[in-house]
Formats: sequence, C-alpha cells, structure tokens
Amino acid sequence: MTGLFVTFEGGDGVGKTTQAALLEHWLREQGREVVRTREPGGTEVGRRIRDLVLHHHGHVDARAEALLYAADRAHHVATVVRPALERGDVVIQDRYLDSSVAYQGAGRVLNPDEIRELSLWATDRLLPAVTVLLDLDEASARRRRDADEKPFDRLEAEKDDFHARVRAAFLALAAAEPERFLVVDAALPVDEIAALVRVRVRERLG
Ligand code: TYD
Repeated sequence: MTGLFVTFEGGDGVGKTTQAALLEHWLREQGREVVRTREPGGTEVGRRIRDLVLHHHGHVDARAEALLYAADRAHHVATVVRPALERGDVVIQDRYLDSSVAYQGAGRVLNPDEIRELSLWATDRLLPAVTVLLDLDEASARRRRDADEKPFDRLEAEKDDFHARVRAAFLALAAAEPERFLVVDAALPVDEIAALVRVRVRERLG
C-alpha cells in the first residue's frame, strides 16, 4: 500500500470534522488525492447501519451494537478505504476502531481487547498510520454537547460517567501506541490544532 491512512478520534463535539476538512484542504493544495470519509456511515450499507445504531428508539444490546459498528467498518474498509490506499490516496477518516474500543469497550463495559480484536478481524488488521486524538476536559466536553443543536443520538445521550470512561480509554490507547497517536488539546485554537496535525502528517508522508 502506498497511500496514507489518517484517522481523527475523540469524544462527541471536539472538532474532528473541522480538522478533517482543514487537513483535506491542505493536502489538496499540495496536489494529493484525498478521500474523506467517516464511520459509521461511509457507505450505503453503512448509512443503514448508522441509522440503526444511532437512531433506533429503545435498547440495543451492547454486543449487538459492537457487531453493528464492526460490520459497518468491515464493509467500509473493503469497499472504500483499502481501494483508496491502494491507489495511493490519503484517506482522512472521522472515527475508526479506537472509537469502538473506547465507546463499546470502556463505555459499554465490554472487554476492550475483544472489541479491538473484533475490528481487526473485520478489517483484516488495517491500522491507521496517524491517529489524531482531540482530547477535551470533561466540563468543556459537556458544554459542547449541550450547545449542540442537533437532537442527541443514542451515544451522545449517555451520562457523564460514560463519557468520562470513553475519554480515559482514548487516552490509554494513545499512551499504548505513541507512534500512531498524536494527542492534541481540543481547547486550542482551530488553526493551532491544524498546524500540529499538518506537522505529523507531513512527517508520515515523507
Ligand atoms: P459521529 O458521527 O462521529 O458523531 P459525532 O459527530 O457526534 O462525534 O459518531 C456517532 C456516534 O457513534 C458517536 O457518539 C460515537 C459512536 N461510535 C461508537 O460508539 N463506536 C464506534 O465504533 C464508532 C465509529 C462510533
């Protein structure tokens, strides 16, 4: 594979989409081919799964939820991400398997190692070259969630302790793989964050 796989991770409302868009813009200016995508919902099949997993009214069993995210991921990697990387494109993706480890593993209290293994099986063990973790302290994260005008989805509607576990899990993942992760304080100004991201991506592009 000759492309570069870059993922953005973090809690809800930390600015992943803004940063993904800025990185895309910068890479296109350099003449790179870019595919910007997201999970869940980066394919037609995935959009149906996204609707099920985020907007179903009522309980979804935690293991079923984990399998739905993994199914979305399997189809997305096979039909969008790997073909793009094989063409040599940069893939910029909003959320990937670390979200499953954090939300389904730590948030839902399933076994994080099993959740990770499930996603690795689903994707034939594809890991990103760069994962940007936008980390935000709990009080600011809650304020951003509350200020969001869209109706809450099933995960956003979870209580504060759920989001605290998710945040801690992301930080632990980053500490375990410092080569892959870049942890950035999401409270920094948008352009400062973008500059830090560009430095890391430029390094990996060589
Ligand atoms: P996303 O569309 O990124 O929402 P937001 O823009 O609010 O961050 O993700 C939707 C929700 O899905 C989000 O609350 C996190 C959750 N999620 C998981 O629980 N597991 C996963 O594997 C993924 C990819 C997302």
